[in-house]
Amino acid sequence: MQKFNFESIVSQALKPSRFLVMVNKVYNRFFPHKESLSKEQNLEWIKKNTTEIYSYANSISSTLWAEAEIESKILEQNANKTLENIKYNLGGGAAYPLLYFLTRYLSPENVLETGVAAGFSSYSILSALDKNGSGVLYSSDFPYFRIKDPEKYIGIVVEKKLRKNWHLFIEGDENNLSKICKRVNKLDMVSYDSDKTYSGRAKTLKKISHLLNENSVIVMDDIQDNSFFYDYINENNISNWKVFKFQNKYLGLIGNLSKTIN
Ligand SMILES: C[S@@+](CC[C@H](N)C(=O)[O-])C[C@H]1O[C@@H](n2cnc3c(N)ncnc32)[C@H](O)[C@@H]1O
Repeated sequence: MQKFNFESIVSQALKPSRFLVMVNKVYNRFFPHKESLSKEQNLEWIKKNTTEIYSYANSISSTLWAEAEIESKILEQNANKTLENIKYNLGGGAAYPLLYFLTRYLSPENVLETGVAAGFSSYSILSALDKNGSGVLYSSDFPYFRIKDPEKYIGIVVEKKLRKNWHLFIEGDENNLSKICKRVNKLDMVSYDSDKTYSGRAKTLKKISHLLNENSVIVMDDIQDNSFFYDYINENNISNWKVFKFQNKYLGLIGNLSKTIN
């Protein structure tokens, strides 16, 4: 967590579209959505259902998982070198080895990612798309308003050569998703790692629902924060789901990967 920086907060709040996103964040924090499970019940359910990422991925394609592990090591080295010179803590990454693996395995045409920060997930998806030789990544983020000039740190670890297939929007999911949804006719893969509140997750999935199909794969981070993932799979009668642990947090995956084996 960064130190409270009044000047940065005011400068972000003076931009009307960003002010509304900030108001939304504060509202969601103080008036959380009603959940079907308590935090403890949700965590208990998650722990009971957790699968190891490596055994899951290996069972689908051991060759691609080996590649994902090698590429993730390279990503870590490159990203850490860039981050060494930055005085702010930009936060940890999503499950980038899994994202690389899925992107290679699914060969998606359109990928949506919410939550960029330093760009670990963007980097992994973009490098896998590059290796595939096709596909575009649409990313939605919102500047960390506690730090000075936050825009310049968004996706900072992503190498220049990977940016050609990247469309980055930084005005918050509330504004970005409408623009992204107009540009695509379907979403093959979605990585959700932005607003972790229940209503943030619910609003995004509702907004993109018309672009999802039976082959779309969704990865949702930090599902231990509230019971949204649990409620979503139950309310929508989804049977193809998995729960994984990555660096002390949990993520959920929705999608039937066996169907896409060619
Ligand atoms: C955990 S970080 C993302 C980490 C990233 N996926 C990675 O692998 O490096 C969460 C990001 O979501 C952004 N965020 C939070 N609320 C948002 C919102 N309403 N719309 C868009 N982005 C948001 C934060 O500013 C932050 O950059």
